[in-house]
Amino acid sequence: TRLTTTLAPWTDSTLPLLARGYAWLPDRMRATHGGPVRTRLLGRPAIALRGPAAIGFFYDERHISRTAALPGPVLDTLFGQGAVHTLDGDAHRARKAMFLALLKDEAGAAALADHVVLQWSEALTGRDGGRRVVLFDETALILARSVCAWTGVPLSDEAARQMAGDCTAMVDGFATLGVRHWRARAARARQEDALAALVRLAREGEELAGDSGTAFEVVAWHRDADGRLLDPHTAAVELLNIIRPTVAIAWFAVFAAHALHRWPSHRDLLRKDADGHYARAFAHEVRRFYPFAPFVGGLAATDLTWQGETIAKDTLVLLDLYGHHHDPELWDAPYRFDPQRFVGREPGADELVPQGGGDPAHGHRCPGEDITVALLATLAAELAALDFDVPEQDLSIPLSRIPTRPRSGFVLTTARQDP
Ligand code: HEM
Repeated sequence: TRLTTTLAPWTDSTLPLLARGYAWLPDRMRATHGGPVRTRLLGRPAIALRGPAAIGFFYDERHISRTAALPGPVLDTLFGQGAVHTLDGDAHRARKAMFLALLKDEAGAAALADHVVLQWSEALTGRDGGRRVVLFDETALILARSVCAWTGVPLSDEAARQMAGDCTAMVDGFATLGVRHWRARAARARQEDALAALVRLAREGEELAGDSGTAFEVVAWHRDADGRLLDPHTAAVELLNIIRPTVAIAWFAVFAAHALHRWPSHRDLLRKDADGHYARAFAHEVRRFYPFAPFVGGLAATDLTWQGETIAKDTLVLLDLYGHHHDPELWDAPYRFDPQRFVGREPGADELVPQGGGDPAHGHRCPGEDITVALLATLAAELAALDFDVPEQDLSIPLSRIPTRPRSGFVLTTARQDP
């Protein structure tokens, strides 16, 4: 039986959400046995939904609009003002087509993975052993260098470090009001200014170091639905919408390290995995098991009815992603980490939704999912192949914090090579 909880209109859940993090919505959902949860967020009536049918409902463009759905503080940190995330209809389709052409390309994803393998080996293998490395920071830097080279954004060594730090700050600070939030705003402002200046230079005919046909060129010369070039600032926002989330794969990389440390049997399976099938299944299970995007949201475009529930126009509609992946109705033993779930098969579109649901070409589902799986599988295989020790540290993953990760960032010491 499904129940709906209705709260008095003055009960706003913004503070409980900020305080309880990933646990907030699943706890509320438990009380309704997975049924819709009515609440208020940021002073607005809201309803949260979960499950495969809810995904179909949410990703029907006639139901949910994104323009004006995302709060300013989230745009000023995570996505950027004017980002593809905020567009609807034809404007969204034209902008999204640019991302899909750049990111849904097998050869492109493989080339990016090659960059990562090269950067990983320069940073972590073939050096003197006994080095202490914070895996989160090291992987963010490897990913920043790789994606900027691949995108055609030239960076000095110092600028690459700044980019890695700024991209992780943008993700780390979007769901808090404290010091992390202000760091995220400063990081975004700095990188938007730098990339907008590069776009202006390229349009004035300046040759950049990258090859032609790069993502940088495509974004710099992309024409929107109105036939116009993006203004340099919006072009910078969208370049960051490729660079930042690629760097954010560092969150999944430390989760992969956490899983290998807790359940070491997967390490041998990855080491023996000649065709990369197990690494892919492992990457899918990391994306299912560990918390990253808690939910997605939009506004009811019109008065709607969902399984007999009335949802008034402009209600904030949330789709519970984290809870979906731990719902015992949908998963056998959801709290068991088990890549076997995905061995020999790819998950269904609305089965595994850590990066949104539906069809990326017709809705807002992440266009970077193939790249995420390819890079995460690559990093998991590299980690399994590396000989390292894990010193005493705090590996707990606080669910009260969005986004979360092992508190220590996963410290490892590379093994000393035999002379
Ligand atoms: C959208 C998650 C990696 C580019 C999204 C959405 C989620 C998400 C939840 C929103 C879906 C929705 O609103 O319905 C993630 C996670 C990643 C990741 C957890 C792992 C680090 C990437 C990568 C790229 C990327 C690697 C690009 C290289 C985008 C873009 C959108 C998006 C451009 C906006 C799509 C739209 O509004 O139509 N992602 N993503 N993401 N993601 Fe990702």
